Amino acid sequence: MNGKMPHIVQYQGSKRILAPQILQYMPQKFSRLIEPFAGMAAISIATAYENRTNCFWINDLNQPLVNLVKEAVENPKRLVEDYSAVWKEQFSYGEDHVQHFYDVRERFNSGDEKPANMLYLLARCVKGAVRYGKTGNFNQSPDKRRHGTNPKTLEQNVYAIACLLNGKTIFSALDYHDVLEMAKSGDLVYIDPPYQGVTNVRDNRYFAGVPFDEFVQAIEILNRKGVDYLISYDGTCGGKEYGEELPQSLCCKKVMLNAGISSQSLLLGKKSITFEALYVSKGLMPIFNMQPQQLSFLEAMS
Ligand SMILES: C[S@@+](CC[C@H](N)C(=O)[O-])C[C@H]1O[C@@H](n2cnc3c(N)ncnc32)[C@H](O)[C@@H]1O
Repeated sequence: MNGKMPHIVQYQGSKRILAPQILQYMPQKFSRLIEPFAGMAAISIATAYENRTNCFWINDLNQPLVNLVKEAVENPKRLVEDYSAVWKEQFSYGEDHVQHFYDVRERFNSGDEKPANMLYLLARCVKGAVRYGKTGNFNQSPDKRRHGTNPKTLEQNVYAIACLLNGKTIFSALDYHDVLEMAKSGDLVYIDPPYQGVTNVRDNRYFAGVPFDEFVQAIEILNRKGVDYLISYDGTCGGKEYGEELPQSLCCKKVMLNAGISSQSLLLGKKSITFEALYVSKGLMPIFNMQPQQLSFLEAMS
């Protein structure tokens, strides 16, 4: 699936590479996929590619990001034209093309949040990582070695994504609580909150978005409503654990997915494999012949 799976642009935390493993824990057919933390919607794209459902809800708190995915799905032609215009501008700067990134960033921060500007910033910034300063301004730096995705490559990708998702998808920029509240039995919710550790430890805004206890309470509500879900949460790399494990009281099954060799470990001259946890909700377990995690007597009483 990977080689052919289209994507809009690099995005930190994207589940594009892990998608084939994650989809192994989804039913073959279900009524609607909800992504409350959609980012670049890798799992919606993969699910549509495998034709598991015909109905998608893509949500992310970051409004310009959602506008970008919506534009790719509903208006691919305009996105490609607008992006090509922004992308080509950088060559009129000659050697100083990095200054073009700063100028587009300035335009974006002054209110011109059109999807092509967001896309260009993501395509050229370090690690495809969205970062905001204290005043809410996008303040990530450019990756000086790159010019950003070529418009021709983008064109192929966005038209493929539009084919997969147009007419089947609704978009919103709500806090995940509001989305989970509206989920109902028959939906499958894929939940991928910002990482608790590793990549964003110093970035309080991104990290603090989803406090652990609040998150667990929100999942308990899904359990009570009988809504099926998959959660990407904690993980391990080189024997080191990151992120807090979700409590057994949620009655999920935790499986570890091989996310490949960590680029951070390579920089340190090691070759450590990262494993990312996927929590499978109770309702999905019979499909995969899984047993829930054992609750200890004391936990069961509390
Ligand atoms: C790990 S990324 C998701 C990546 C996505 N699965 C993909 O493949 O591209 C987490 C996303 O959660 C969003 N987010 C952070 N806090 C949120 C909140 N309270 N409600 C909804 N989305 C939130 C971030 O903007 C970010 O795009």
